[in-house]
Amino acid sequence: MARIILPFILASQFFIFFIVCSFSTILATGEDLGFVRSLDRKLLGFKKEKLSHFRFYWHDILGGRNPTAVPVVPPSSNTSTAFGLVNMIDDPLTLGPKLSSKLVGRAQGFYASASQQEVGLLMVMNFAFMEGKYNGSTITVLGRNSVLNAVREMPVVGGSGLFRFARGYVQARTHIFDIKTGDATVEYNVYVLHY
Ligand SMILES: *[C@@H]1O[C@H](CO)[C@@H](O)[C@H](O)[C@H]1NC(C)=O
Ligand SMILES: *[C@@H]1O[C@H](CO)[C@@H](O)[C@H](O)[C@H]1NC(C)=O
Repeated sequence: MARIILPFILASQFFIFFIVCSFSTILATGEDLGFVRSLDRKLLGFKKEKLSHFRFYWHDILGGRNPTAVPVVPPSSNTSTAFGLVNMIDDPLTLGPKLSSKLVGRAQGFYASASQQEVGLLMVMNFAFMEGKYNGSTITVLGRNSVLNAVREMPVVGGSGLFRFARGYVQARTHIFDIKTGDATVEYNVYVLHY
């Protein structure tokens, strides 16, 4: 008799133990769900990180009837670097260097003169794309722009849409600078890791 019952008792004890264990697991995950839980990245469609290179031209237009850059804070007086100046921008991004070439997006944000010794800007802008599948996606750039240098590098600090989890850098090269109006056309090369 005992020989028959013992395995049965062991089995049912194991079963109860198993139930208690899974119940406490449910409770534990239940608590986690309230605030934070770890997630498999594939569940949100993040499969393979890729590196993309974008190239376009950024048009900063201060003069004329339709400026794309507007001063919102004047520089503190008596500085040669316009220290303190803040310009709000909604600059067109085009495929070619001409303003009339295909519009691929807009650079929206501001730049501020942040250096007292040389001309050095703090750039804070979102590249809001309009082209193809990138329409509606954005890349955020925040960095230091020493505009008199031939090549300026600034970090890509994030993005949205197709650029979720974006990181990378941009390189800016002045293509044309009109000393009279202050208008500038700048070539931007963007190297970005994203999914
Ligand atoms: C501007 O700065 C220079 C050099 O620091 C100084 O000599 C001059 O007096 C200043 N001018 C005014 C109007 O504050
Ligand atoms: C981009 O998306 C907006 C809003 O969905 C739409 O109105 C617009 O026509 C699109 N532009 C292009 C170039 O596809």
